[in-house]
Amino acid sequence: MEINNVKGTHDIFGGEASAYSQVEAIMKNIAELFAFMEVRPPVIEHSEVFVRGVGESSDVVRKEMYTFLDKGNRSLTLRPEFTAGIIRLMVQNKLLITNELPLKVYYDGPVFRYERPQLGRYRQFNQFGVEAVGNNSPLCDLEVILLAYTILTSLGLENVTIKINNLGDENSRVAYRQALRDYFKDLLPKMCPDCQSRYELNPLRILDCKVPEDQKLVKDAPKLSAYLSEASKKRFETITSYLTSLGIPFELDDNLVRGLDYYSETVFEFHYTSGKGNDYGAIGGGGRYDKLVKEFGGPELSGIGFSFGIERVVSILRDDEIIPSDIPGVDLAFYVIPVGEKAQFTAHAIATNIRLLGYSADVCFDDIKLAAMFKRADKKGAKYAIIIGEEEINNHKVIIKNLATKEQIEVDQEDFENKIVELMEEHSHDCSCGCHDDHGDCGCECHDDHEECDCCEGEDCDCDCHDGEECSCGCHEEKK
Ligand code: HAM
Repeated sequence: MEINNVKGTHDIFGGEASAYSQVEAIMKNIAELFAFMEVRPPVIEHSEVFVRGVGESSDVVRKEMYTFLDKGNRSLTLRPEFTAGIIRLMVQNKLLITNELPLKVYYDGPVFRYERPQLGRYRQFNQFGVEAVGNNSPLCDLEVILLAYTILTSLGLENVTIKINNLGDENSRVAYRQALRDYFKDLLPKMCPDCQSRYELNPLRILDCKVPEDQKLVKDAPKLSAYLSEASKKRFETITSYLTSLGIPFELDDNLVRGLDYYSETVFEFHYTSGKGNDYGAIGGGGRYDKLVKEFGGPELSGIGFSFGIERVVSILRDDEIIPSDIPGVDLAFYVIPVGEKAQFTAHAIATNIRLLGYSADVCFDDIKLAAMFKRADKKGAKYAIIIGEEEINNHKVIIKNLATKEQIEVDQEDFENKIVELMEEHSHDCSCGCHDDHGDCGCECHDDHEECDCCEGEDCDCDCHDGEECSCGCHEEKK
């Protein structure tokens, strides 16, 4: 009997897996350019981490957690998000006891929510995110939003809508919660059961209700902006003025409350409708949290962060063909073709040498016709085929064929390694990122930068790039 994957999960393989890796690599590189350090928290935590961290009134905690008792009768939960676990990690490992705050970290991995699967919504999905903890300056909010924006533009997503709102400080929200309770008190019997429990637990959550009838009632509810303290208003204005000065487009959205309970002050979300008209929901979101560190027994420090949903980001990049639909699962440099059974061991030895030189190589395992082996090489997207038969073995030769130009050369076995290096260097002449070699529109930005850069010609460049480190022209960063 065939056993299928669990509902709401999805298998990622081949070119799609490459697309995920490319996207994650760009996100990680940019986070590191902003001096964020990688952390890898466990996938399972004590359920308490999320109940206390994410909050009992959130849908995530009320309905969506994968919670189970382990064999020692402990209640454990597969993480439904990263932030609460990251703060637990920081406090437990005393990472916040340092003179240099904010502590800036990034993370990447699977998260689990028992939601109704639909377009862009899974039960297991991947998030990439960052947290900057221990600094309350509006400049810290700016840095985090700027990082998210830089990631999105580097991925080639220029027209992302950034929605931003101010949830105010704790005092502002106490007054606002009361105003909402007063407003919804008489309407409550007409509202959905979820809103009825939200009314008690956290009436702000009612603003996030997706039931159309309830949304109509939400329209005339009091606005948070009327309850914000002067300090909070001023802080938010500073952030929006910074964003404006840096030319980062944003929309103020006073209905944006976010689905997790820990937020205060700045909250934001990234939205994008793909060229195919698919709206996968928010591709990312985040905000500031003031009480989370204290909740986990740490000092009174606030933090800010965001997470992107990798599935949604990859889907729009593929819809808009920013990531081509036909990228190969493996970026293969050489496909070694043994002609005849006797050449098979030598073919494997050749592939091993190539791999030790740092280039990818695969060997045809089947004893099939030459034409069929070339077809396989093309299908795999290999740049070169290496042909070795009995005759070549006897003459100490190897044939190398460029699969794009169809040019074929014969080299002596003792010159083979040098030739391989020479060919691969020619291939990556302009850039060592590996992208140029075949699919020009890989989204890595190298191409654009290289085109504008005179360095590689070597003539009218006075930047010393070729020597390596001391270049200020920006090319090298891009090349990495
Ligand atoms: P979130 O808005 O719950 O925030 O999730 C972040 C992103 O994960 C969403 O914008 C969306 O792209 C993706 N996502 C959420 N649910 C699903 C799903 N069921 N299937 C596919 N993708 C999904 C957080 O998780 C916060 N921890 C973000 C944060 C970090 N706030 C402060 N720091």
